[in-house]
Amino acid sequence: MSDGAEVRKVPRVDNRWLKDIERVLITQEHLAHRVAEIAQMIQRDFSGRETVIVSLLSGTVMFLADLIRHLNLPLRLDFMGVSSYGAGTESGELVFTKELRLDVRNRDVLLVDDILDTGKTMVRVLEKLKALHPRKIRTCVLLNKASRRTENVKADYVGFEIPDYFVVGYGLDFAERYRNLPFIGVLHKHVLGEKTPSPYRKT
Ligand code: IMP
Ligand code: MG
Repeated sequence: MSDGAEVRKVPRVDNRWLKDIERVLITQEHLAHRVAEIAQMIQRDFSGRETVIVSLLSGTVMFLADLIRHLNLPLRLDFMGVSSYGAGTESGELVFTKELRLDVRNRDVLLVDDILDTGKTMVRVLEKLKALHPRKIRTCVLLNKASRRTENVKADYVGFEIPDYFVVGYGLDFAERYRNLPFIGVLHKHVLGEKTPSPYRKT
C-alpha cells in the first residue's frame, strides 16, 4: 500500500476549519453509523408505548434530528433549555432557559443530551423530570467524558466514550460557535484561550 493511501485513513480537517480545529475526533460517517445503532437499542427498549423525548437545547440539535428519524415509534418531542452561566468551557451555575411543556406523568421518557461531562446538568434535569412522575425515564448522550465526572450519574445509552478534550461540532459549541461542523473535532488550544465578548443578549 502506498504512503498516500495510509495518510488518507486519518480524517483530514477541511480547509474551512483548519484555523480553529486541531483534528477530527469522530467523523461524519462514524457518527451516522453509531447513531443508527443507538436508535436500534432505543427502539427495542421503548417499543409498545408512546415515548416522550426530552432533549436539551441547543447542543443536541444534530444528534437528535439524526436519532429520531431512525425511530419507528410513536413519540412526542419537547425541549428543555439549560445553560450554565458564562460562554466558556467550565460549567457554572445552571439556569433553566426553557421549561418542559408536555405532560410526562405516567409516560416513558427518553432524556437526550449532547455530552455527559461533570454530570451536573444531567443530575439537575433528572431531579426536575422525576418530580413530574414519568412511568420510566432513560438517558441518552452522544458523548461521555467519564474522567470529568463529579456527580454520581451515568447514561443508559452512550454514543462514544471520549477523553478529556474540549470538543465541538455536530451540535456542540464553544461560545455558541461551531455547532454546524458535520464532525466532532478538537478545538485548537489557542481558540479556547481567546477572550471573545459574550454572545448572549443582556437581559
Ligand atoms: P455537565 O453539566 O458538566 O455534565 O456539562 C454538560 C454540558 O456542558 C453539556 O450539555 C455541554 O453543553 C457542555 N459541555 C461539556 N463538555 C463539552 C465539550 O467538550 N464541548 C462542548 N460542550 C461541552
Ligand atoms: Mg449544552
